[in-house]
Amino acid sequence: MPVKQDISLKPYNSFGMDVNARYFAAFDTADSLLEILSAFKQLPALVLGGGTNLLFTRDIDGLVLKNEISGIEKIGEDEEFVFIKTGAGENWHGFVEYCIAHGYAGVENLALIPGAAGASPMQNIGAYGTEVKDVLFELKAMHMHDRVISTFTNQACEFGYRDSIFKNKYKGQFVILDVTFRLRKQPQFNTTYGAIRQELERMGVQDLSLRAVADAVIHIRQSKLPDPAVTGNAGSFFKNPVISQEQFNSLQKQFPGIPAHTSNNAIKLAAGWLIEQCGWKGYRKGDAGCFNKQALVLVNYGSATGADIIALANEITGSVEKKFGIKLEKEVNII
Ligand code: EPU
Repeated sequence: MPVKQDISLKPYNSFGMDVNARYFAAFDTADSLLEILSAFKQLPALVLGGGTNLLFTRDIDGLVLKNEISGIEKIGEDEEFVFIKTGAGENWHGFVEYCIAHGYAGVENLALIPGAAGASPMQNIGAYGTEVKDVLFELKAMHMHDRVISTFTNQACEFGYRDSIFKNKYKGQFVILDVTFRLRKQPQFNTTYGAIRQELERMGVQDLSLRAVADAVIHIRQSKLPDPAVTGNAGSFFKNPVISQEQFNSLQKQFPGIPAHTSNNAIKLAAGWLIEQCGWKGYRKGDAGCFNKQALVLVNYGSATGADIIALANEITGSVEKKFGIKLEKEVNII
């Protein structure tokens, strides 16, 4: 695959940041990745999937690789499950649609999440009560330094809330090549998330189906989240904070309406609510803004730079900390 020089990464990141890469190459097989790694003396500066969970704040003075490994296939089944392998470069929503069309259940709540299938385990994408860790069987990844391909089981990925071993111990070390999901032949619908139940009711759905649940999720996302093809963004910019019961009790005394839910013996707060309470929802300074329908999402209305978005994020973080004593953590990868 040809290595290009000095190209703009604007088409490759959903925030629409116009930064340059010194070198850029795409690969569509493990072999073509090997070829590029062998030809380049230095390790790649960055491997891009869909570029939907990052914010560029600078030019990249090194090699940027784009994962374009494609293909979706059934590699096994038993009475209850099918095992579906997808190339890491496949579009995530395309993969979800494939599963729905074939009647494979488990990813319908994750419809319309932007990005590549191979990036889904990186940050354990999740929405509406389901996370990738609930359905991932195993994945294959190449270590960039020794170029050995290893298999990671679900457990080996050390998944947490928007977290995995690839964001921690192995950060920047592996390229995910393909991911195998274990999906149900008979759906076990998860409609516990209030917004899904309300939307299914609004749609007049009597009998649940994979299609109906996915459509409900698609409608909810379209009504709340900006389409990156129209307005630059990378989904939730911050994580929802997880705090102790004691901390929650004292916050609740001060802010009786504070929304929260229990997650693994701790309390997860809605960062969008905290940000909205500080008056940021719909705020815009130049081309950087806090989205008017979902305050957890920061947006680029056109020509905002990474620094503009970071400056806004810091102002938001500061005011949330001042009002609630809570430090928001960024969910988006800052580069
Ligand atoms: N809320 C507000 N104001 C806002 C936004 C939210 O008050 O502007 C409060 C409301 O009380 C609402 C609650 O927050 O009931 C939860 O809001 P929502 O259902 O929109 O979900 P979220 O907690 O803001 C998380 C994920 C989303 C995922 C949704 C649905 C994180 C960081 N974000 O957002 O994931 O789609 O739940 O499951 O966990 C992403 O990671 O990029 C992403 C979009």
